[in-house]
Amino acid sequence: MKHLLSIEDISREDIERLLARAESFAEVSGRPIKKVPALRGRTVINLFYEASTRTSSSFELAAKRLSADVINVKSSGSAVEKGESLKDTVQTLSAYDPSAIVIRSPHAGAAKMIARWTAASVVNAGDGKHEHPTQALLDLYTIRDEIGHVDGIRIAMVGDLANGRTVRSLTYLLSKFRDIRVCFVAPPQVAMRQDIKDHLDEHHVPWVETQDLDSMLPQVDVVYQTRIQKERFADEAAYLAVKGIYRIDARAMSLLQKSAIVMHPLPRVDEIAPEIDSDPRAAYFRQARNGMYIRMALLDRVLS
Ligand code: NCD
Repeated sequence: MKHLLSIEDISREDIERLLARAESFAEVSGRPIKKVPALRGRTVINLFYEASTRTSSSFELAAKRLSADVINVKSSGSAVEKGESLKDTVQTLSAYDPSAIVIRSPHAGAAKMIARWTAASVVNAGDGKHEHPTQALLDLYTIRDEIGHVDGIRIAMVGDLANGRTVRSLTYLLSKFRDIRVCFVAPPQVAMRQDIKDHLDEHHVPWVETQDLDSMLPQVDVVYQTRIQKERFADEAAYLAVKGIYRIDARAMSLLQKSAIVMHPLPRVDEIAPEIDSDPRAAYFRQARNGMYIRMALLDRVLS
């Protein structure tokens, strides 16, 4: 496993190894000294061409906790603003002999493209409306950690399923497990795209689609809420037409099973009411913390 470009590249065996490794890093993170020497002398470059808080900071911290040297390059404040092409930036950074380049880009396929321009391992940290494989891995880790198993779960994916990349990668990933049932909850304007539905059909994963969130809440183990992706709408009116359409609040929580959880890749805007943050079923901040363990496991795996 040299790169992680798409969740489709990764086998069930690789997934199990990564989850186990992430668990061991979660243990290390509970100690007073959180650093291990695994990647001493290696360099990781984080190339972020789109807004990020969790993914960029957890990748940086993951690399540092593995003792790698880290460089962070963002589009704002870099030569990108002077008109430098992605290819030139990647070729320049590659001249510093990094072991890995972690890339976030507004363009689908960007990670795959740069893997052709560098000898470094390339990790996709989100490419446009396409995929976000490390998010899917941390989501999977969270489901297993919170529910105890992945096989057999019922999950509702809610919100902007057409523009959100996390739900796409998570659906690909869950289709590698047994007895999964998926419900897509979205208005028609941002319904899950056909390629993912076809993928589920090919893998014999039953799925349904509805606009009625309330009817699904009592039936699922996981509610995976997502943000309406404002930046990916062509115009403001189209965004406003779906903004705020589904909100998980105390009333919605009263419909959910006691053992169910609410996940969200974050950031949230208005789709989860802060009043539910203290509900033990609200798993999204624990989910964010798991991102660091998964990214440690992943960097360790692709670089060792
Ligand atoms: C997500 C993303 O960037 O796709 N954020 C994240 O990485 N946790 C979700 C989003 O932006 O809504």
